[in-house]
Amino acid sequence: MANTEIFLSGIKPTGTVHMGNYIGMLSQMRDISQHNKTIMFIADLHALNSVRDAVAIQNHSREIAAIIMSIGFNMDNVLMFRQSDIPAVCELATMLTNVTPKGLMDRAHSYKAAVDKNIAAGNDADFGVNMGLYTYPILMAADILLYNSDIVPVGADQKQHVEFARDIAGHFNSIYGDVFKLPDARIMPDAGIIPGLDGRKMSKSYDNVIPLMATSSELKKKIMRIITDSKTPDEPKDPDTSTMFQLYRHFASPDEIADLAEKFRAGGMGYGTAKNILFEKLNSVLSPMRERYEYLMLHPDEIDTMLELGAETARKIANKTMARVRHVMIGTKK
Ligand code: TRP
Repeated sequence: MANTEIFLSGIKPTGTVHMGNYIGMLSQMRDISQHNKTIMFIADLHALNSVRDAVAIQNHSREIAAIIMSIGFNMDNVLMFRQSDIPAVCELATMLTNVTPKGLMDRAHSYKAAVDKNIAAGNDADFGVNMGLYTYPILMAADILLYNSDIVPVGADQKQHVEFARDIAGHFNSIYGDVFKLPDARIMPDAGIIPGLDGRKMSKSYDNVIPLMATSSELKKKIMRIITDSKTPDEPKDPDTSTMFQLYRHFASPDEIADLAEKFRAGGMGYGTAKNILFEKLNSVLSPMRERYEYLMLHPDEIDTMLELGAETARKIANKTMARVRHVMIGTKK
């Protein structure tokens, strides 16, 4: 039996899901789903402020759904759907707009980062900023509040957004009565910075990612391309600064991790060997997931059916919330 608290997380379909996404977020949500009611949705409306390619959004959304169905989530506890399949989220966002202070949006890290970048480049402060980016936290609050979420597990970068959702809910309740549950952010255990192929943080924007569902041969090629320093096989090496080791430690057992760390420190192991060890480990963990993923991608109707079933349930929850909101705001019957 699942616990009663509701955990919710969203993932934007803006690019290929990579190891960093898996280690930092997906694998942790998978673990949460074993014993908790878990809502996983594909935040396609949130992708719109940056992605202008409908086909890409469609494809990435399916990929994410297939990944959620392949990596060991306890699907009995999971409600999975596409954000845009529940139009009530847009209605709620519009309503929340009216209780959200503009100053709150001005303080959002993501908006401020865009402004700082513009000013540094000598541009107008709001150059290239659309209202989707500016009001992003309101739509996110609607996601969280619509489904009565208790806990929103996020990385540190998203913490402010969840706090905004809580602020907005509190403000709404102080005007209209006890309509929304106040959600809590839960910072996921820090997975550390997951390095990419060039040693910098794994990120689409650095073009240094290892796709989670790379085929076995793609995976091997990527791993062989990891940049290392020029130590000879004989020299002792530092596991903590090694990209190979930093990836390995998220997939291997404690004994295996200690063993490889020792091999780094002792010297006598070349980077080529370390790459092979990493490849074998990743491939053995990922192969069964990849098999299921590839099957699903060849049977997209199975993915779409799952998304549609999820959307039906989500719409029921959403409609109940919206009945309360409409009642207190515009006087419709409950
Ligand atoms: N903003 C999140 C991100 O960029 C995605 C997201 C959208 C989300 N709505 C959410 C996460 C609601 C948690 C809860 O990663």
